[in-house]
Amino acid sequence: KKGSYDHFMQKEIHEQPHSLTTTMRGRLKDGEVLLGGLKEHLKTIRRCRRVVFIGCGTSYNAALAARPFVEELTGIPVTMEVASDLLDRQGPIYREDTAVFVSQSGETADTLLALDYALENGALCVGITNTVGSTLSRKTHCGVHINAGCEIGVASTKAYTSQIVAMAMMALAIGSDQISTQARRNAIISGLTSLPSCVSEVLKLDAEMKELASSLIDSESLLVFGRGYNYATALEGALKVKEVALMHSEGMLAGEMKHGPLALVDENLPIIVIATRDACFSKQQSVIQQLLSRKGRLIVMCSKGDASAVCSNGSCRVIEVPGVADCLQPVINIIPLQLLAYHLTVLRGFDVDQPRNLAKSVTTQ
Ligand code: UD1
Ligand code: BG6
Ligand code: NA
Repeated sequence: KKGSYDHFMQKEIHEQPHSLTTTMRGRLKDGEVLLGGLKEHLKTIRRCRRVVFIGCGTSYNAALAARPFVEELTGIPVTMEVASDLLDRQGPIYREDTAVFVSQSGETADTLLALDYALENGALCVGITNTVGSTLSRKTHCGVHINAGCEIGVASTKAYTSQIVAMAMMALAIGSDQISTQARRNAIISGLTSLPSCVSEVLKLDAEMKELASSLIDSESLLVFGRGYNYATALEGALKVKEVALMHSEGMLAGEMKHGPLALVDENLPIIVIATRDACFSKQQSVIQQLLSRKGRLIVMCSKGDASAVCSNGSCRVIEVPGVADCLQPVINIIPLQLLAYHLTVLRGFDVDQPRNLAKSVTTQ
């Protein structure tokens, strides 16, 4: 089943041009988005007071990646909930809310308990899941199957990118009655269409990421700074490194750097800065300058052709990635970090597909 690959995680990373194609199949037609699972509910969702995203682990990070474009395309405020924390706090959920549950397996206990809670509180409950017939799919009022194909590696990879794309289509469908954002929606739809070929292109960084991994093999820690559309990329890249490579790693909001994390910076701690082109680019350029002036050991992810724009003195290691519509860039940017986590794990001699202490689906609380 692994074919020519050594591990499922590796296979699933390289499968993403295909899994993203199947996520979109039959759902983008003549510049329109058609989600059969949502169309009867779009009117209700458009009238809701807020969207609450709920999930755990990688699925939470996918929802965080979707938050900016859901807010932008729908105008509806979005709040984020880690499922266990919503339950711990018994946080307020109202009839006027649309609660969107994101889960690859559709069987995560914390997420399902949060679903029961939201159903009791009268919210419209929407599922985003990879598993047809799962408890999440059955118990939600409506939803979208991401159709990424079975995912076996404990570390979620292809489901993450397909979840983001499914939520992009959801945001486009909810916002489709707005004339003022028509041009923006068209640009995102054409970005979605070109996404699989951009993913094939970014996968060519495999050998470069293996080489980078070999330079990080003995590091004790790895920081990842992102912001805006790519705050989620920072959290998810760090999660991949800690869960499979068993290396301490933290994703951080670059805007918070000077409020604490800057104290950690020295010439030894490797730091990845995500600085691809979007409205936050110039802010990320100044973050890089501040880190370099403290002799930070930087690895900068930037758009193709931007190496000298992000690091003029050549003292950073640079990863250049293809550009897509800004709000879809997280789908591209996570892939080099998935490859890095994979190679770090193999080089450090750990189990890629069954990381220590972890399970694919956590069905107990
Ligand atoms: C559906 C069919 C697909 C077929 C297509 C043809 C299924 C599972 N899907 O896909 O095989 O090719 O029509 O038009 O038979 N749902 C939830 N919660 C979730 C996810 C989904 O309630 O978390 C519900 C949806 O609201 C919908 C149904 O499950 O009623 C199927 O969802 P989905 O597979 O996404 O719908 P289509 O893309 O229309
Ligand atoms: C587990 C897995 O903790 O559950 C993670 O090890 C996963 O990889 C998380 O992200 C949530 O799973 P699901 O199926 O709800 O997306
Ligand atoms: Na359902």
